[in-house]
Amino acid sequence: MQTNSPIAGCRQSSLAIKGGKPVRNNWLPYGHQVVDDEDIAAVTAALTSDFLTQGPRIQEFENAVAAHVGVKYAVAIANGTAALHAAYEAAGISAGDEIITTPITFAATSNAALYLGAKPLYADVDPDTGLISAASVEKLLKENRAAGNKKIKAVVAVDYAGQPTDYDTLQALADQYEVSLMIDAAHSLGARYKERAGGFAGIMSTMSFHPVKTITTGEGGIILTNDEKLYDRLLAFRSHGIEKRRERLQKDDGPWYHEMQSLGFNYRMCDIQAALGSSQMVKLPGFIERRLQIAAAYTAALKDSDTYGVTTTGGDRQSAYHLFPILIKGENAGEKRRFVFEALHKENIGVQVHYIPTYQMPYYKEQVLDRDWSALCPGAEDFYKREISLPIFPSMKEQDIADVLEALTKIAGELA
Ligand SMILES: Cc1ncc(COP(=O)(O)O)c(C=O)c1O
Repeated sequence: MQTNSPIAGCRQSSLAIKGGKPVRNNWLPYGHQVVDDEDIAAVTAALTSDFLTQGPRIQEFENAVAAHVGVKYAVAIANGTAALHAAYEAAGISAGDEIITTPITFAATSNAALYLGAKPLYADVDPDTGLISAASVEKLLKENRAAGNKKIKAVVAVDYAGQPTDYDTLQALADQYEVSLMIDAAHSLGARYKERAGGFAGIMSTMSFHPVKTITTGEGGIILTNDEKLYDRLLAFRSHGIEKRRERLQKDDGPWYHEMQSLGFNYRMCDIQAALGSSQMVKLPGFIERRLQIAAAYTAALKDSDTYGVTTTGGDRQSAYHLFPILIKGENAGEKRRFVFEALHKENIGVQVHYIPTYQMPYYKEQVLDRDWSALCPGAEDFYKREISLPIFPSMKEQDIADVLEALTKIAGELA
């Protein structure tokens, strides 16, 4: 593979941020969808069919994702945020309740609890992986139980960057403390956990199909479960709380008759999106294979770097590599990270930071939270200070990988 190792291939060109020539002339984004002619044909077929929404393509897509992950039921929904909202509601989370979750995630993981009048408590993360720390979850459950707090209803772990969290340990804790476990698997469709697919544990998991994720439907999401009662509740919540199945109605006023039996939303995915999703599911193994190749090239090039560390869950877990996070090593990581980030952008390498801890968001600080979680989450603070996500998506070329590594090399040279 033609990649320039930041260790071996140090070319002494000046940095673009200091007026030098960038490693590339066009912008390389950190993530990008791959949509081909087959996807376009699938969407066109949906567009010219009788059903643009509420048609057969929804269930086809649901079946494809459920089969891949190995669960009984799937409910396709408008986006990953709606998936979280639906899952929390179906899990019975309501006003005054609390969930334990991670701060190293997109705001939606916590926001969905707020939609229901519930509140997040934050477990710390492992500063090497960004994944929720089971030990920190246990500490929170134990302390709160000892203090007589009965408001905690669920632990919501996030498969950050595509790495499955420690499902078995978290499940054991959930069982011990009698709370539900849910997984925000927005990043992990295509991951592996032990002998099975990643992206599911506990009572429900949710996914997002935003264009930078491992497959896309434009906007879209899904909730996965093995529980029929939850499945029924999710179906109702997705569509106004309306029940149409005759055997479930309270009366029979005629063939038109349906009942709104609970309060729901219009959170439906449409058939155009589902058609794209089913077509993308066929390509998922190939997408993941390419993501793994890119991750392997980055890992090989960076593993002995003094400047950049890589995150690895390793062992019996395989990331879907939605993201490829690197961690700036050493002292003054915050300042160095800012410099590396800005310098990479000037080299036309579109990196991002995932994530600003949710508890640092002004809305949370000023209007939601009653304590300073930054003092309680040193792992998350450290991870946020050091993290940068490198470009990774299936259509990246060898030259793109080489450009990223060359830019990292130039910048490391400057920092040394
Ligand atoms: C971890 C995580 N959870 C939830 C979401 C929300 O998904 P969506 O953008 O589809 O609403 C995202 C999307 O960025 C995410 O990364």
